[in-house]
Amino acid sequence: EFHKHPKHLALASDGPLGRFDRQQLQRGFQVYKEVCSACHSLSLVAFHDLEALGYSEAEVKAIANQWQTEVPSVNPETGEPATRKALSSDRFPAPYANEVAARAANNNALPPDLSLMTKARHDGGAYVYSLLTGFQPQPAELVKKFPSAKTPNGLHYNPYFANLNLAMPPPLTSEGQVTYAPGNPKPTVDQMAKDVSAFLVWTAEPKLEQRHATGIAVSIFLLFATILGYLAYQNIWRTEK
Ligand code: HEM
Repeated sequence: EFHKHPKHLALASDGPLGRFDRQQLQRGFQVYKEVCSACHSLSLVAFHDLEALGYSEAEVKAIANQWQTEVPSVNPETGEPATRKALSSDRFPAPYANEVAARAANNNALPPDLSLMTKARHDGGAYVYSLLTGFQPQPAELVKKFPSAKTPNGLHYNPYFANLNLAMPPPLTSEGQVTYAPGNPKPTVDQMAKDVSAFLVWTAEPKLEQRHATGIAVSIFLLFATILGYLAYQNIWRTEK
């Protein structure tokens, strides 16, 4: 009774004719880059995939160059893994070297990879949006009814998260946390949450538009074939009573 279903989220990519709103995906990418990427990897996405959001090759290269990626050798002076600037052909580098480092930085919780998050959770886009905007004080009745469910220190109450207490601190907390280019909507928490959710719908299914187009073509063909079949049937049995 305390766990909530996701709020409704309307995205341009919804429905059989849905197509991505590229301007929104670019904003969502910006939110991922400036906020989420501090803790979450996006290991299935390569920088050059961003061309599908409308960035030019040169822009993608400039974006990739803002990241460092490890190379399989060790810096002889420091003993640390050597790095180089990321290239368009690289996938997004992970924020932590390994799981131990990731947990050490997150109160022993592991920030999951976000590439397929909107497929891994039911109603994923709406779920991510709801989670990001759902942090709130824990209701007193809940603690009264289930004292052991009281939010432990270091966790955060969120009714959209299946076990209600989440290790992630609210990542989007103030309007203007990310600066959007002129001509975009105001970066309210709600808007940023919607945009990054739209972006994660894209990362999980970059070929959604092709799938929709194929579906429409197949449906039209099947309808046509059905009509032809019916007419042929009538023609064949025309002389029989
Ligand atoms: C978990 C999204 C920023 C740390 C999650 C989950 C999602 C998510 C969808 C999974 C919830 C589930 O398992 O159902 C995002 C988005 C962010 C963001 C979209 C940016 C807007 C951050 C930041 C941090 C962080 C900045 C670190 C300070 C974590 C941790 C978990 C988590 C530790 C695991 C929580 C647990 O299992 O209790 N995040 N996150 N996240 N996130 Fe984030």
